[in-house]
Amino acid sequence: MDFKVADLSLAAFGRKEIQLAEHEMPGLMAVRKEYAESQPLAGAKIMGSLHMTIQTAVLIETLVALGAEVRWVSCNIFSTQDHAAAAVVVGPNGTVDDPQGVPVFAWKGETLEEYWWCTEQALVWPGGDGPNMILDDGGDATLLVHKGAEYEKAGAVPSAGEDDAEEWKIILDLLRRTVTPEKKWTEVASRIKGVTEETTTGVHRLYEMFKAGSLLFPAINVNDSVTKSKFDNKYGCRHSVIDGLNRATDVLIGGKVAVVAGYGDVGKGCADALRGQGARVIVTEIDPICALQAAMDGFQVTTLDEVVGIADIFVTTTGNFDIITADHMARMKHNAIVSNIGHFDNEIDMAGLAKIPGIVKTEIKPQVHTWAFPDGRQILVLAEGRLMNLGCATGHPSFVMSNSFTNQVIAQIELFTKTEQYPIGVYVLPKHLDEKVARLHLDALGVKLTKLTKAQAEYIGVDIEGPYKADHYRY
Ligand code: NAI
Repeated sequence: MDFKVADLSLAAFGRKEIQLAEHEMPGLMAVRKEYAESQPLAGAKIMGSLHMTIQTAVLIETLVALGAEVRWVSCNIFSTQDHAAAAVVVGPNGTVDDPQGVPVFAWKGETLEEYWWCTEQALVWPGGDGPNMILDDGGDATLLVHKGAEYEKAGAVPSAGEDDAEEWKIILDLLRRTVTPEKKWTEVASRIKGVTEETTTGVHRLYEMFKAGSLLFPAINVNDSVTKSKFDNKYGCRHSVIDGLNRATDVLIGGKVAVVAGYGDVGKGCADALRGQGARVIVTEIDPICALQAAMDGFQVTTLDEVVGIADIFVTTTGNFDIITADHMARMKHNAIVSNIGHFDNEIDMAGLAKIPGIVKTEIKPQVHTWAFPDGRQILVLAEGRLMNLGCATGHPSFVMSNSFTNQVIAQIELFTKTEQYPIGVYVLPKHLDEKVARLHLDALGVKLTKLTKAQAEYIGVDIEGPYKADHYRY
């Protein structure tokens, strides 16, 4: 088996944590049981690009339990948990000397070149007969296949512009080496039945491609299952934003001024958590609806420019770019903490920060750096501007990820087994499946549902067994 992880000897530790996580992931374990016999993913060759954590290990082993062959990478250079990666490679029945699990190409602290190399390894299967499905988080795997196929069609890979981001130059270099007359990427694309996408930013990319007519295979938008975005993005971040801050800095949050940029699902979770710790939370928004929500939830809503000089902690959650500029950072308080929990690192202008004349970067520990300005003030930047909950801590806990990943498994089964029902487009899972995912998590929390009577069901116009809401209901 080919693979590349940091240290296989971490597998035993990883396995113990996987076993603990399984208990906290009732949705995934129920799906394993439900489909043990029918093996709906037999024949599926799934390339996964999603943070290689303990929770993801339980997802991967669920896909395998349902019959799939899998190859995996992380979707961020800092998010891999090396013991999880090792345990997945060794597998539940293998040993360090005889690994029998799943090929993983991921370790904590990859360079960007290594990151894209890993993505390529997982997309190109030995024997050349896979993958036929992608499970993506943020859309990098989907992007590589699409760009490769696009440039093969055009017959050339464009040169990078001087102002292009470093990462884009690396992608173009990789494609220059791998776009061949044999049309490797076109072939990879032609084998893929579909992609299931985990996050807001990746979903945004998919809708753009579909609108532009360039999407090459159907996609299921897992993010917008209610049991994903209204749980993982919100309650997951409510947990892991504090975990990231604590593990990185251990600064007392109570009494501090915290700015949360963006009041979508992630922003709502972060603002709530910071307030829970006793911080005075200020929200920035561009959307009047979300701004009004933040105000009614009791937060001050203003612009970053207004408060940049008084805040102690900054968290960007927008999925947009250039939220905190170099100029903002130059105006911050001494030792202000600057972090991003959105998918990509461009929410904070790290390139601009590095270009400030006389700026000095010092590593406190991996993924925690001070940046000192010539006047002696400094700021702390977490995870080099990448998502801090996965870069500085271990991301969301198992229970909430069980919701997200149960949606992922159901979406993979849908696209793989009913491919002909999904012409090229971007789809969300039907509501009865969303409700099913929620239902699978109730017992573990001791939740007792009230049952509708037949007369009540008729009165509100729903079936006793659900779905209980119209598609336009927003939760
Ligand atoms: P969302 O679309 O619900 O929220 C983003 C909010 O930011 C919106 O309300 C939007 O109006 C606002 N916004 C956009 N530009 C802004 C600006 N210039 N200033 C202030 N506000 C602005 O998206 P969601 O689901 O909250 O996701 C946000 C990001 O977090 C995405 O990149 C997503 O992929 C990522 N994500 C990260 C997770 C993690 O564990 N780190 C988990 C889930 C999502």
